Amino acid sequence: MKKIMINGGKTLSGTINISGAKNSVVALIPAAILTDGVVKIYNTPHLTDTENLRRIIELLGGQIEFGRGELKIDGKNVKNCVIPADLSNQLRASYYFMGALLGRFRRVDIYFPGGCKIGARPIDLHLKAFKKMGATIVRDGDKYTLVAERLHGAKIYLDVASVGATVNILLAASLASGETIIENAAKEPEIINIVSLLNNMGARISGAGTDKIVIIGVDKLHGATIETIPDRIEAGTYMMIGALVGHDFKVDNLIPEHLDTLISKMRDMGVDFKLDHDSIVLNRVDQFEPVDIKTLVYPGFPTDLGQPMAVLLTQANGSSKFVETIYERRGGHFPELVKMGADIEFTNTKAKFKGPSKLKGCDVSASDLRAGAALIIAGLLAEGTTKISNIEHILRGYEDLVEKLSSVGADIKIVEEN
Ligand code: UD1
Repeated sequence: MKKIMINGGKTLSGTINISGAKNSVVALIPAAILTDGVVKIYNTPHLTDTENLRRIIELLGGQIEFGRGELKIDGKNVKNCVIPADLSNQLRASYYFMGALLGRFRRVDIYFPGGCKIGARPIDLHLKAFKKMGATIVRDGDKYTLVAERLHGAKIYLDVASVGATVNILLAASLASGETIIENAAKEPEIINIVSLLNNMGARISGAGTDKIVIIGVDKLHGATIETIPDRIEAGTYMMIGALVGHDFKVDNLIPEHLDTLISKMRDMGVDFKLDHDSIVLNRVDQFEPVDIKTLVYPGFPTDLGQPMAVLLTQANGSSKFVETIYERRGGHFPELVKMGADIEFTNTKAKFKGPSKLKGCDVSASDLRAGAALIIAGLLAEGTTKISNIEHILRGYEDLVEKLSSVGADIKIVEEN
């Protein structure tokens, strides 16, 4: 079994370059098959998730070339076929092929998606929307068959401002006949990125970044290019590392506006940072003020940063409260941090931290991607050796994690061990 081994307690200096956003690129890739032209996606990160999407594109007959951050997808020979369970369950975003194939072929056969086990994660809002747009849905166990002889626009109110449902509707509605309106749409920066690609391909979409998006369906989309936005969650993770163990620790190629809530909380905690238009330099300080955190949809505090943030809260001088509002089982990191010496009282969605706690390295396990990120941060801060198992979760979302951290002075490596 592969594990990440960290000898902690080192001061880290230098520059970390932020990669393209995982949660953007996993939508941009499926969007490319809406056209029989060529789509180029710049700033594409090399991640297990991108690799798995590439396998799905190839299964569908698409041609895909990936070199030096540039992903080129030629959709000319794309045909419709069943996306089997062993591909769809490799990642959450496989479900974007629902919207993409429904848009292009009016039919999709796909199995339930995978992704981190952080809560129930139903897809009812996606299915309800497709139904409103004219699709019939047949479910056979985990297999979903969606057919829409006439895919048409619809007025869709999302009960939850779901990122996934918003993207899936955008994909199908771009090639549906007539107008689709999404109310209570997700406002995440990744939505703006995917809408930019779709509009570059000839779609007619307005309102991205607000809670009302209007899509006027078109008959055909053409090839286009897009640049993946910087990964705000990766940036936030490295910012926390800089705050805890950094000296002149620069996180480069980020969009500060995407990280407003984290920056504001860091300011309240007394983190030493200097912000520039696309970078931030952090220096470790001796003492942090406690703060309370509640995760919310964008522009609130991102649920994906709630777990990494936990490590910072263990170092605050006093009591901090944490509430997770999006997922009901996002607490897999809490028992592991307690093992390392943190003082945390927790349930699945709430936690109370008393700090500062001295963390000590030990054997821990990553229950999911961002829990793993929290353990990486904790391992870098802790005295002694931390060994993290189940690292495949972490490698799904952080490009060149070990290389990037080694380059700023971390003692971190992947080891093979039982
Ligand atoms: C995306 C991100 C994930 C992030 C999350 C919230 C990707 C690939 N993943 O996940 O990293 O944590 O946004 O920022 O972009 N819901 C329903 N029914 C549905 C769909 C969602 O009840 O049909 C609920 C979910 O259970 C959850 C909430 O809505 O409680 C938000 O989910 P959603 O925004 O859809 O998250 P994802 O797109 O899966």
